[in-house]
Amino acid sequence: MHAILLQKHGGPENLAISTMADPEPEDNEVLVRLKAIGLNYAEIQSRKGLYGWAPKLPYVLGMEGCGIVEAVGRGVDESRIGQQVIVAAQTGAYAEKIVVPQTQALPVLPDFSLVENAAFTVQWMTAWVGLMKICRLQPTDTVLIQAAAGGVGTAAVQIAKAMGCKVYGTVGSDRKMELVKSLGIDGVINYRRQDFAEEVRKMNNGRGVDVVLEVVGGEVYRRSIALLNPFGRLVQIGFASLNLNKWNPLSIYRTLRAVPRVNVSKMAERSYAVGASHLGYLLKDPQLMSSVWQDLTSFVTERRLKPIVGHEFNFDQMAEAHRLMESRQSTGKIVVRV
Ligand SMILES: NC(=O)c1ccc[n+]([C@@H]2O[C@H](COP(=O)([O-])OP(=O)(O)OC[C@H]3O[C@@H](n4cnc5c(N)ncnc54)[C@H](OP(=O)(O)O)[C@@H]3O)[C@@H](O)[C@H]2O)c1
Repeated sequence: MHAILLQKHGGPENLAISTMADPEPEDNEVLVRLKAIGLNYAEIQSRKGLYGWAPKLPYVLGMEGCGIVEAVGRGVDESRIGQQVIVAAQTGAYAEKIVVPQTQALPVLPDFSLVENAAFTVQWMTAWVGLMKICRLQPTDTVLIQAAAGGVGTAAVQIAKAMGCKVYGTVGSDRKMELVKSLGIDGVINYRRQDFAEEVRKMNNGRGVDVVLEVVGGEVYRRSIALLNPFGRLVQIGFASLNLNKWNPLSIYRTLRAVPRVNVSKMAERSYAVGASHLGYLLKDPQLMSSVWQDLTSFVTERRLKPIVGHEFNFDQMAEAHRLMESRQSTGKIVVRV
């Protein structure tokens, strides 16, 4: 099969197509022929060697996709062969074929296209777990979504609006503002032109917010904490600003300073909570994942929500797709067709 095997950390030029042996399903596993792959920001960090969850080199990047079950291992019902599935994994999806435990090959959502199914799982589950499970979102909450025009961001805006919340978001360009406005957001701030914390208070009659979905770290984290109302909740689900150069002491210092930390005394003074979540840990608990999946897909189907696919590429354009995501110009999800 063809796959994009990462041999060395570095720039997008390392994402060349190689030929590899087809993987074979073992007990309780399925082999899926992928038709479309969903890209995630973690894969940029993984390619650069900055992702703590990555295995040793060489390995095939890629966390999710959509395709057809082509073969099954022992312990898997043969009727699954031919089933259209969404695949969620830590690695291995930048390929024509992938093997995953059968619990990580989920039935597609019938109302979604192939590309929408490839775009859904990682970012929507992340937004769902952050908002609903950690922050226990209520319809009366006022919410701030950082990086609101991205994959997780557009999912989070849609979930919070569908819950009935007042929702604000930050973006890094005017073009992105238009996209999040089209999702019904109550207020959006281009943080390159305006101070997001001041603007949120202006729009919200001087008050802060009850919930923040934070993905950047550093100063954005500190200023988001300062915006929380009493009983507020912030969930940290990403660290997009962390860009460590191991050989540069200044970069090490900057990175350490940017890692979000909590100060329990300060939390007590203003009565707020800080949480964090990572899907990688949750994948190890199939029962928990299955219940999260049921809740999320029922909500999305009832409210007729869909992932926003901003860009599509072909398999031999993976480097271009990475360049786009890294440039911070992408909106919604990037999908690569196999
Ligand atoms: N915890 C988990 O399990 C989990 C799972 C999936 C994703 N995540 C995290 O969630 C975040 C969003 O992921 P995604 O895949 O949906 O990506 P994305 O939001 O589509 O792309 C990343 C966006 O982050 C924004 N950003 C803000 N500050 C940045 C900085 N200093 N450097 C680079 N980008 C910056 C940029 O938008 P603006 O320029 O508009 O701000 C950029 O477009 C990432 O941090 C990712 O690691 C976590």
